[in-house]
Amino acid sequence: MPAAQKAQAIAMTGGAGMMATLLRPYLADAGYEVRLLDLVEARNLRPNEVALVGSVTDPDFMNTSLRATSGVVHLGGLHREMTWQEIVATNITGTQVTLEAARRNGVERVLLASSTHAVGFHDLADAAADAVLPPRPDTYYGVSKVAAEALGSLYADKYGMKVVSTRIGTGGQRPGNARTLGSWLSPADSFRLVEAALNDLGAPGHHVVWAVSANTRGWANLQAGRRIGYDPQDDAELYANEVDTSGGNAETGLLGGFWASDGHRVGMDNYPHLAAK
Ligand SMILES: NC(=O)c1ccc[n+]([C@@H]2O[C@H](COP(=O)([O-])OP(=O)(O)OC[C@H]3O[C@@H](n4cnc5c(N)ncnc54)[C@H](O)[C@@H]3O)[C@@H](O)[C@H]2O)c1
Repeated sequence: MPAAQKAQAIAMTGGAGMMATLLRPYLADAGYEVRLLDLVEARNLRPNEVALVGSVTDPDFMNTSLRATSGVVHLGGLHREMTWQEIVATNITGTQVTLEAARRNGVERVLLASSTHAVGFHDLADAAADAVLPPRPDTYYGVSKVAAEALGSLYADKYGMKVVSTRIGTGGQRPGNARTLGSWLSPADSFRLVEAALNDLGAPGHHVVWAVSANTRGWANLQAGRRIGYDPQDDAELYANEVDTSGGNAETGLLGGFWASDGHRVGMDNYPHLAAK
């Protein structure tokens, strides 16, 4: 990619979170100036980074924070099942506010963090067969990711933006269990995906892609990602000897695993013992 096309200043919501923390060294090495937006202040800042404290649901904060940026990586929000009210307020409203702030600032490239749970009731075999599975959420959290994808589609079609909705399998430094041997997204591959989303100027529109590495035990169909230049290089198999391979998706045969299992209800108000953790 010629240097002239490279995004210079970018904003990353959820900048103090786990996925952002794994991405930050790669963004620094590639020369991006990164604004780390979060409810809490991102720590251990590098010379290329600035921490901005505020909520993705606050239009004034987002409008100001995205000024003079050329791309947004939207990771900020609730990363698992919560009550309906919390999910709507943070994940759905926060995505709308982020996209609207991007539009107002003329930011044309946005990566949205979607999830396997947007399609959690699909069989694992469906994921391999279809380049882009239709929504089939397994939780309120999954519904919020479907809504985020719909908002991405709206802003791409309406305003000519390029929005990439990334259905993240499992982020992390390494895979941790049997399930993640198939669903792992390595830090380096997450950076490759950010590069594909932010720097490929030739593809405006809405793209729904799997954010998963090239795992030997992977079930994800990577064609849609490859079409926008996402070429994953890592394989969870490298760590297979280190993880407990009992259990995993085999319990349900569904992408959502535990969250799509029989009798599992939605909303954390039904699971106070889990919500307290
Ligand atoms: N980690 C995974 O395996 C995984 C898998 C699928 C999808 N995702 C998605 O990727 C994104 C990042 O996940 P993560 O694992 O880094 O989660 P995380 O909880 O570590 O990071 C999310 C960050 O968002 C911030 N945040 C929460 N509400 C906010 C608000 N209103 N305004 C601004 N910031 C707010 C939190 O403070 C936190 O630092 C999330 O959208 C999550 O749903 C992650």
